[in-house]
Amino acid sequence: MSQQQRELLKLVVVGHVDHGKSTLVGRLLHETDSLPPGKVEAIKAMSERRGMPFEWAFVMDALQAERDAGLTIATTQIWLRTPRRDTVIIDAPGHKEFLKNMVTGAAQADAALLVIDAQEGVREQSRRHGYLLHLLGLRQVAVVVNKMDLVDYDEARFRALEREIQAYLGGLRLTASAIVPVVARDGDSIRHRSAKLAWYRGPTLIEALGDFHPLSASTDLPLRLPIQDVYKFDERRILVGRIESGWLKVGDRLMFSPQNRTARIASIEAWGVDRLPTEAEAGQSVGITLDEQLFVERGALASHVERPPVETDVFRARLFWLGREPLRVGRALKLKLHTAETMVTVQSIEKVIDTGDLSASAATQVERNAVAEVVLRSRAMLALDTHAACPRTGRFVLVDGYDIA
Ligand code: GTP
Ligand code: MG
Repeated sequence: MSQQQRELLKLVVVGHVDHGKSTLVGRLLHETDSLPPGKVEAIKAMSERRGMPFEWAFVMDALQAERDAGLTIATTQIWLRTPRRDTVIIDAPGHKEFLKNMVTGAAQADAALLVIDAQEGVREQSRRHGYLLHLLGLRQVAVVVNKMDLVDYDEARFRALEREIQAYLGGLRLTASAIVPVVARDGDSIRHRSAKLAWYRGPTLIEALGDFHPLSASTDLPLRLPIQDVYKFDERRILVGRIESGWLKVGDRLMFSPQNRTARIASIEAWGVDRLPTEAEAGQSVGITLDEQLFVERGALASHVERPPVETDVFRARLFWLGREPLRVGRALKLKLHTAETMVTVQSIEKVIDTGDLSASAATQVERNAVAEVVLRSRAMLALDTHAACPRTGRFVLVDGYDIA
């Protein structure tokens, strides 16, 4: 159907504030010849005019208006051209106030780079970001130990950090595919090996990136098609949505949850084609018509009759709390789960997890930026999956007014 496309990897760069994420990304763009000709020279000239020392992070800022603040606020997306595939880099902010942006950036990613300053070592946000990668189900993680120049390229310092990082990630059942000592500012171990880091025998950063794979569209999981909209054309009703997992074909009997109604797919609609498609799979947005008129609206979840989602009005969840006020039992919030929206209340707080040392404790409330296991009860029945079975329909967002909480 579509043209042969180059593989696309989405990579999020996370880590504590000022550990060098933007610098690393700027340098990566340079080392992979992903920048337009003359870009670096132009930025160097501009820094000079403004009387500021040149920073690789300015390359990123050239795409976004964050230069004056000197720190990353929103996530920025940039394209990197590497021989094997295209990579989109999501540069996440390291400051605690912007954790929400880090979470949204990481939620879209296939793989992550955790940047740690060799001199400062593992800090609060290094651990928290590591935990969030785990919470979001990201399994492909590499670690960059940056600013090796500030520790005199010392192997002993690197090995100590390496052990500390491995122990922390191990506690999250995450394994770093590589831990690479670099100097992002100067380019050591980014593309080329560095004489100053001669003791290091592992992959360069670009080699380590080559080992990451785009997460395959989950065609082998059960069909999950959350309905986004229903369009009425003359007599026909076209149900529109994106297939989150699995696949479907004309003639399949679909179950719509939580309404518990079934019908067969009569057609898969398309525009500007000679013949309508007869099947579609995960990752595609589709419009389908049914062989009978069902009352189905936005928020319904279509599956095959044989492998339906769970229907429930109470479930246990692990969540990361970003709300301004602590989360307490009895609190009502809006739940957004695939395309469904409904009110939920916090029935109980089971435990709060300390992302610093991974210990769990009982608590009566969840503070901002903390992780907790809670039980939520909804007013209406919900169609959902366990995260392990079907990650896309096993995660959700809580909204407080207009804010993601
Ligand atoms: P936030 O986006 O605010 O979280 O920061 P960041 O992680 O993107 O850090 P950024 O790239 O802005 O770098 C912070 C500072 O560290 C800048 O002054 C950089 O010049 C400096 N820096 C980055 N990499 C290196 C390095 O390899 N060596 C040295 N000595 N300094 C570096
Ligand atoms: Mg930055």
